[in-house]
Amino acid sequence: MVELGVSLGSLQMKNPVTVASGTFAAGLEYSDFVDVAKLGAVTTKGVSLHGWEGNDSPRIAETPSGMLNSIGLQNPGVDHLKEVELPWLQGQGASVIVNVSGHSVEEYVAVIEALEDAPVDAYEVNISCPNVDAGGMTFGCIPESASEVTALCRKATSRPLIVKLTPNVTDIAEMARAVEAAGADAISLINTLLGMAIDAKSRRPVLARVVGGLSGPAVKPIALRMVWQCAQAVDIPILGMGGISSGEDAIEFMLAGATAVAVGTANFSDPHATMDVIDGITRYCEEQGVTDVKELIGGLIC
Ligand code: FUM
Repeated sequence: MVELGVSLGSLQMKNPVTVASGTFAAGLEYSDFVDVAKLGAVTTKGVSLHGWEGNDSPRIAETPSGMLNSIGLQNPGVDHLKEVELPWLQGQGASVIVNVSGHSVEEYVAVIEALEDAPVDAYEVNISCPNVDAGGMTFGCIPESASEVTALCRKATSRPLIVKLTPNVTDIAEMARAVEAAGADAISLINTLLGMAIDAKSRRPVLARVVGGLSGPAVKPIALRMVWQCAQAVDIPILGMGGISSGEDAIEFMLAGATAVAVGTANFSDPHATMDVIDGITRYCEEQGVTDVKELIGGLIC
């Protein structure tokens, strides 16, 4: 038997595997393939105070070993999440991380305040979406604004606060230190890398917004590098993600310093991917004589 439980701050997870926000909705659409209660946690799609329409289409493009998205955080708003998705997740017995979005600092705080009486186990503060003109990455690229959002969200809740970082910065460790100092209980990384695709025949960008966020196996080496750099820079736990589709991928992130991992783009091509990752982690531990998965965190031998 392998002990799979891990903690992200005070968030207890039965195993280290969650989903990357925006790749799993709130789980209902995946429930034919995945028992959501078997995940370490379900991380929901980013939610704002009121619904957002998202960006114009096309807003998805397949790229070599990955994909670009420019959804623009389309969501039906926090009331819908409270009335429909959160009760369903509670009925399933799932642990829930809600990804919180805003166009202003005040909106992030208002979303958290609205959720304080709802069945939520932790918040993930999204200061890293590259597809919006206000909020998202515009806050996450500057240490001062990342720190301000984190500090105000911290004041609004005593629940575990995870801050999701963007890789579109020069020094990821500086951003990690800024949000740790402002009260984050954990950091998650990486969100998507800003990229673009061009249709040579039409001489036009593939995405309506021209640029979008790159995810999938193509970004894994960058994500591993950034998780490893952050693990050297902060004492709070790390939720690592970026191109994970197998147990071995997940183990690599844990060796780099992640306490838990999220499966993202792989959910689109294989809706059962999360379960395969959990099984793969267990198998690796059995084969390697690892009795507690926590032994692997930061276990990279350099
Ligand atoms: O455009 C989007 O909805 C992406 C969100 C994110 O990367 O956080």
